[in-house]
Amino acid sequence: MDKRIRQLAQASPRLGRYDKEKPHVASRISGYEVGLGVRNVKRVQELTPTENRAAARLEGKTLPGGWVVVGKIAQPLGATGGCFSFGYLVETSDGRKGFLKALDYSAAFSSQDPPISVALQQLTESINFEKYVLARCRDRGLDRIVISIADGTFTDGRAGIDTVEYLIFELADGDARNHMAIVSKVDLVWRFKTLHHIATGLEQLHRNDIVHQDLKPSNVLVFNHDHSKLADFGRAACAGQNPPHACLVFPGDWTYAPPDVLYEFCLPDLQIRQLSFDAYLLGSMVVFFFTGAGTTALLLHEMDPAYADWQHFNGNVDDAKLHLRDAFGKALAKIQIDIPETCRADVIPIIQQLCDPDPSLRGHPGEKRGSLSQFSLERYVTRFDLLLKRAEVGLFGTLV
Ligand SMILES: Nc1ncnc2c1ncn2[C@@H]1O[C@H](COP(=O)(O)OP(=O)(O)OP(=O)(O)O)[C@@H](O)[C@H]1O
Ligand SMILES: [Mg+2]
Repeated sequence: MDKRIRQLAQASPRLGRYDKEKPHVASRISGYEVGLGVRNVKRVQELTPTENRAAARLEGKTLPGGWVVVGKIAQPLGATGGCFSFGYLVETSDGRKGFLKALDYSAAFSSQDPPISVALQQLTESINFEKYVLARCRDRGLDRIVISIADGTFTDGRAGIDTVEYLIFELADGDARNHMAIVSKVDLVWRFKTLHHIATGLEQLHRNDIVHQDLKPSNVLVFNHDHSKLADFGRAACAGQNPPHACLVFPGDWTYAPPDVLYEFCLPDLQIRQLSFDAYLLGSMVVFFFTGAGTTALLLHEMDPAYADWQHFNGNVDDAKLHLRDAFGKALAKIQIDIPETCRADVIPIIQQLCDPDPSLRGHPGEKRGSLSQFSLERYVTRFDLLLKRAEVGLFGTLV
C-alpha cells in the first residue's frame, strides 16, 4: 500500500469534530457526546481525573456472582453515553474468564449543561439500550455477536457517583485491529473467514431489526485466531428503542462514516438509510483487510482539495457526488494493487457495490433499488463463504 496513504490512515483525525454549522450531524468529540455539553464535559474531565473514577479502580475487587477483577486490559475505552469506560480481565474461582466493561456516573454527576438529572438519564438510557440489544442477540442465539454473560452495578464508596455499571462478556483474544498488527501471518483464509463472520453477524442483526452503525476493526472481536464476532452496540439502532444517540444522523465513528453522511445526501427513509450505512461499513472492512485503512480515509485522500474539506462544504450536492465518483475510481485503482491478483476480480466488485459513494446506487445490482432489500447482505455472506472455501483449497495461492 502507498506509504503516504498508510500514514494518512494511521494519523487519521477523528473526523467527527464538532462543527457549529452542522450540529445535527455532530457525533463523538474526544469520546463525548455533543448532547452532554462539550465545553462543560471538558471541565468535568478536569474535575474528575481518570484515575480517581470508580470505574478505573476495580482491580482486585470482587463483583456479584464471584467475578474477581484481575487486571486492566486497556486504557480508557471509548464512550458510552458520554462517559469513558474501562476494560478489565475478570475471573471466577472455578476458572471462568471474561472481559469486563465498566463505567461510572461521575462525569454525569458533575454536569452543568445539561443538568445532572438529564446527564444521568442519558447515561442510564445508553447503558440500558446496550444491555437490551445484547440480551436480544443472546436470547435469539445470534452466534456471530459477542455474548454478554452478566451485567450489574457495584458501589465502592459513595452511592451514585462511585457506582459502577458493568457488563461482562465472553473473553476474546482482542479485536481485528490489534490482531492484524500483532499476527504476522494474516493470510487470505483468515481474511475471508473473518469477512464471512462479519457479514454473517450483520445479517443476523438485520434479521432481528438491529443495525450496528459502528462497524470498524476495533469492534470486531477475534477468538482463538479462528473466529470472529461483532461487538460494541453503543451506537446501534433497534426497532422499538429510542436511545439518546438516535437523534444523530450517523452515531458511529466518523473516521469511517459513509460519504453521504459527510456531504449530507443520505437516503431519506430512516430504515433504508441505516441499512445503507451498515453495507458501506462492511465494504470498508473489506478495504481495511487488504490496505490497513478504511474506505473513507482513502476516498478523502483522492478527493479534489476544493471538495475534500467536507466540514466546510456548502456547495452543490451533485458536484460533490461527481467528485466523490472520481475519487472512488482513483481509490479503487490503488486499493486493487494491495489485493492479490488471484482474487482481485472477486474482491473489487464487492468493494465497488458496498462502498459506492452514492447510497442510491450502493448494494448488489441484482437487488431492487429504493427498497430494504437493496442492502440485503445475504449474497455477500455467500460470496465470502465461497472465497473462503477457494482460499482453503489453495486456489488463490499461498499469498499473505
Ligand atoms: N469481549 C472482549 N474480549 C476482549 N477484548 C474486548 C472485548 N470487548 C471489548 N474488548 C476490547 O475493548 C475495546 C473497546 O470495547 P468496546 O468497543 O465495547 O468499548 P467502547 O467503550 O465502545 O470503545 P470504542 O469507542 O473504542 O469502540 C475493543 O476494541 C476491544 O479491543
Ligand atoms: Mg468499540
